[in-house]
Amino acid sequence: MNWILYLKTTETCNLNCKHCFTNGTNGPKIYWNKTAVIDWLKKFSEYISPNDTVHCEFHGGEPFLVESSEMRDVWFYTKNYLPNCTWGATTNLVFRMYERHFGLIEDSFGKRIATSWDPKIRFANNKQYELWHSNVKELLKRGNTVKLNISVTRDTINIKPIVLLRWIRRLGVQEVSFERLTGNGSALKHPDIFPTNKEQDAWFLKLHQESEKYGARDWFHNEFLENVYTKFDTGFTGAGTFCRDCEEKIFTLNADGSIAGCPNSAPEEQFGHINMTIPDLINNPIRLENMACEKSRNPNCYSCEVFSHCGGDCHQLRWEDYICGAPKSLMKSLMTKKVWMIKEINGTVNKPC
Ligand SMILES: C[S@@+](CC[C@H](N)C(=O)[O-])C[C@H]1O[C@@H](n2cnc3c(N)ncnc32)[C@H](O)[C@@H]1O
Ligand code: SF4
Ligand code: SF4
Repeated sequence: MNWILYLKTTETCNLNCKHCFTNGTNGPKIYWNKTAVIDWLKKFSEYISPNDTVHCEFHGGEPFLVESSEMRDVWFYTKNYLPNCTWGATTNLVFRMYERHFGLIEDSFGKRIATSWDPKIRFANNKQYELWHSNVKELLKRGNTVKLNISVTRDTINIKPIVLLRWIRRLGVQEVSFERLTGNGSALKHPDIFPTNKEQDAWFLKLHQESEKYGARDWFHNEFLENVYTKFDTGFTGAGTFCRDCEEKIFTLNADGSIAGCPNSAPEEQFGHINMTIPDLINNPIRLENMACEKSRNPNCYSCEVFSHCGGDCHQLRWEDYICGAPKSLMKSLMTKKVWMIKEINGTVNKPC
């Protein structure tokens, strides 16, 4: 099993993004107990198979609201019993960075960090944006790999894809991920930020077309597009949020010690606690029910022409009547292209019947 553990240092934040599934500044002012997290990771390491892989991601709210030394301690004490574990953090980078922050990223995260940017709904003022921007630039200058998460909001899709792609290139980050919105936390209070599934689908197709046209595939790793391309290039359908096994492989440790699966619904839906035994957690009936729900697809998927490539997509994404939240038009166009290529290879194109 490839485990992913989201370790939330806090439930609250210094920003108040409109889409935030942890409710931004309104998230409870709760901070983790790092010793309890270290103990839990030890318990977990004793239970899993030596062949399993583990990735730990510090999360929040804003993970850097706690002292960076606390995250360093969790990494330092855990690496003895999870030696092959990889570590990372997703942060808003809206805080003054000191050597201790750069040191943590260098020593513990392998010089790699994820940060987020969204048009209009994220930064309250230009000062916040400038602070974020200068931190990104400094991280890049020091040779770190920066992954940028961008949520696919109405404001995002109002930007022409090529304009956004060029801006990301100018920023200089090496990786970008486009994340579709789930209806949790603050997002529920702001329905206006959601594009319709049809609009989102059209934007993804355009993103692909403009990326191809301008050669943007060479500018940085576009995780969303690459995950879709992989379906057609290698036949692997479960990359990224298409996996349909998040509820099985993910544990989110909330800052209050409660445990959930998917991080997006973790503030609302918990099934366990840090004090439980690992077998009790793994076999918890609510977790097993979540896993079963995730495995079952919307019935419309079974008659969909791209089902064999899509696989039914993320179960957290809402449907609008019979329209899913997947990049269906993009997958259809890639499927048409693939069929043509196969025909060409087999010499069946333009062959008289
Ligand atoms: C909850 S934040 C925590 C880390 C940090 N505060 C940050 O903003 O990067 C983690 C990621 O979730 C994204 N996110 C927040 N609410 C979301 C939602 N309702 N749907 C999809 N992604 C969301 C954020 O944009 C961010 O990239
Ligand atoms: S998305 Fe991140 S930065 Fe924005 S309010 Fe939520 S936790 Fe804070
Ligand atoms: S494209 Fe939509 S309808 Fe088709 S399989 Fe994927 S999620 Fe289901």
